[in-house]
Amino acid sequence: MTPAKPSPARRGSELQKARDRRGSGYSSGFSSRRPSIDPSRLVPMDKTTHVGGTDNFNVVFIGAGNIMFGSDEGPWNHSFRFEHKLGLRLKVVAIIDPAIERANAVLKKKCDSFVVSAYQNTRVYKTLDDFVKHMSEKERPRAVVVGSPPMFRGTQQSGRDIEMQVMKYFPGVAMFIEKPIATGPKVEIEETFKIAKLISDSNSICSVGYMLRYLKAVQKMKQIIQENNLIVMVTIARYACAYEAIAKPDWWDKSKSAGPIVEQGTHFCDLSRYFGGEVDISSVAAHSLEWDEEAGHLSKMNVDEGKIAPENRIPRVTAATWKYDSGAVGSLVHAVTLQGRNYSCELEVHADGFSLKLVNPYVQPVLYVRKPGDDYEQSFTFPDDDPFFSEVSNWIDIIEDIEENPEAAQILSTYEDACKTYEFTWAIREASERSRAATLATKGAATAFVEEPVPEESESY
Ligand SMILES: NC(=O)c1ccc[n+]([C@@H]2O[C@H](COP(=O)([O-])OP(=O)(O)OC[C@H]3O[C@@H](n4cnc5c(N)ncnc54)[C@H](O)[C@@H]3O)[C@@H](O)[C@H]2O)c1
Repeated sequence: MTPAKPSPARRGSELQKARDRRGSGYSSGFSSRRPSIDPSRLVPMDKTTHVGGTDNFNVVFIGAGNIMFGSDEGPWNHSFRFEHKLGLRLKVVAIIDPAIERANAVLKKKCDSFVVSAYQNTRVYKTLDDFVKHMSEKERPRAVVVGSPPMFRGTQQSGRDIEMQVMKYFPGVAMFIEKPIATGPKVEIEETFKIAKLISDSNSICSVGYMLRYLKAVQKMKQIIQENNLIVMVTIARYACAYEAIAKPDWWDKSKSAGPIVEQGTHFCDLSRYFGGEVDISSVAAHSLEWDEEAGHLSKMNVDEGKIAPENRIPRVTAATWKYDSGAVGSLVHAVTLQGRNYSCELEVHADGFSLKLVNPYVQPVLYVRKPGDDYEQSFTFPDDDPFFSEVSNWIDIIEDIEENPEAAQILSTYEDACKTYEFTWAIREASERSRAATLATKGAATAFVEEPVPEESESY
């Protein structure tokens, strides 16, 4: 039997649903209903089978670094997740990286392993232009994964415009772009929103790598909020990184990474927005503990900070508060304090009668929930959860299967949404720099006051 044709109105709502799932559709308005996924649908890699079919799924990787091929710094490694998701269909047609030797080294490792079928015809190029010049029609990518450093993207300026290049050569191709979307000077924030609009207009299925949104624990929090019709009253975020394990000099240099809030705290700023809604940027206030203050000394840094200009050295602690458009209040403490390897991070979300506390999202997430009628917290654990797999898996499901199962997959972080997180992180950085400048000015004035020469006593009174 042929199914009845949907009415035009229904078709319209289905289209809207599809657009919502894809994350396309540019909106500048406030949205408190953010997309979410039923946590039971977030399945770890070993409990899933790769996407069926026989046709090749061509992918271009831009950047051959840690996020793409893994490192000792953390569990990230996109290539590994793509291999599991797409199985024999995965064909990495090109790796683009100006550091050709690094790209060739990772490629060799792959070709020496059991995933060789995805990489045996991969070619390495310094630029996307070079790839396009040599590309055959058979190699046209279905998806592009951007994991180059953010200082080379997020603008329309030559050399820092990879999204524009991808859209020019492959209009509408699906893009996965790592966070943060940029790390340029603050004046360029407007440009990121222009790129968001162009991406949306191109109809690209575009997802940004805020993978914590895909944690089962986070989706469980969303579920509790939605099922109980809660309005978030406050978000409290604390992010303490293990600085000893951060050996990249650029990370410690504000002129390169834009500082620890824009580069790293961004994950928790983004999660705060995911629960609290839009931030009133003008309300952001912040303080920092700086490298040259008595309490700011770190004994186990693995980079030589002496090589970084004093004005570009990063704060050790940043503490911020803000208002959401809903009236709710948010706070964040980011601390560069821990040694060893594991980070210590917590996010609390409170609403009338409820507290939801996410602990240790990077290592072993635990969710503590307190509900009306019970003075004690209930705890939930999520063994084997892999948000890096879930974000990739969702994105590919949408690329592959746009109409068939409208409830199955969602893009939880669009480029436009990520622009708002970027703007927010810059506001925190700027607020902390303003209060530091004010403190220095006050101290300077006090010193000047003390040191001001006392006029000699006049003999004439
Ligand atoms: N979501 C997460 O938890 C997570 C974890 C790690 C990294 N990241 C993000 O991934 C991005 C990359 O970080 P990483 O740790 O892989 O850095 P990395 O330094 O290890 O690797 C970056 C690679 O990009 C290459 N590159 C430089 N300029 C390029 C260009 N113009 N085009 C293509 N490649 C270029 C470099 O040569 C290098 O090989 C950053 O935005 C970072 O914040 C996210």
